[in-house]
Amino acid sequence: MITHYAQLQLHTVSIQGVKQIYQQKLGFPVIYETDEEIRFQPTAHFTLSFLEVSEPLSPAHIAFEVPHSTFDESAAFIRDSGIPLLQWPDGREVDEFEKGRNIYFRDGDGNLLELISHSYITEGVLPPFGASKIMYLREVGFPADHVIQLREWFKHVLQMKTREESDIFNFVIGGTAHAIVSSTSRRWIPIAMRALPPRGTISFGVTDASFIRQVRSHVEEQSILFESDEELHFRQYGYSIRLVVAANFDAQIPVLLGLPLSVAKGSAAYDKSPI
Ligand SMILES: [Fe+2]
Repeated sequence: MITHYAQLQLHTVSIQGVKQIYQQKLGFPVIYETDEEIRFQPTAHFTLSFLEVSEPLSPAHIAFEVPHSTFDESAAFIRDSGIPLLQWPDGREVDEFEKGRNIYFRDGDGNLLELISHSYITEGVLPPFGASKIMYLREVGFPADHVIQLREWFKHVLQMKTREESDIFNFVIGGTAHAIVSSTSRRWIPIAMRALPPRGTISFGVTDASFIRQVRSHVEEQSILFESDEELHFRQYGYSIRLVVAANFDAQIPVLLGLPLSVAKGSAAYDKSPI
């Protein structure tokens, strides 16, 4: 079973530029750096990595979950860092929706970042890290030309779940990891940004080696980039996806957080919207 996003590797055209945003502005600790790659550790269970490339970029959309009770502090920290918050067409920077709040901003490569909080998430389960108070990476955008095909693959092969489905936009959920499977014809809010499949590698943390073996049985030989008992790296529908056994991430965390699709059907938390 998938428990969380363990690592996200994106492409950049400037490691120095990435460092100025993620280390100097956002305060993410650097855990590894070479001329080709830099890795940040924004939370205990998640690594954000940038690989320097000499080719056009395709910006990603990602969202970090922050505690609802201190959302304003997270937003103030981003604002005070000097990174511009993106505006909705009416000029608003903070969006308040039924279950939470969010803000959006971009890094120097055009990746669309979001801080989001939800009132239904139990606080105190995952410690908020740093001044931005990030608890975990919640969303990675997976724009696709064939939305239904990708969504059903996530459900069938990675055993991720949905509550509501549409032909253009879906939250497909495994633990704390929300894959936003949306049509390339649907633009990212709030700036109507074209949705392109990002390059790089998305790593999901999984509970055990037997899950890796199960997924392996569905992946064709020519799609495999690397495999071991504890890891499977492959390409699917244009995405580079890696599964890695993450025994340090307690599989109960999504349940303790109260994530609706992680708790038992019939419980009060189940009826709360995951969106
Ligand atoms: Fe989002």
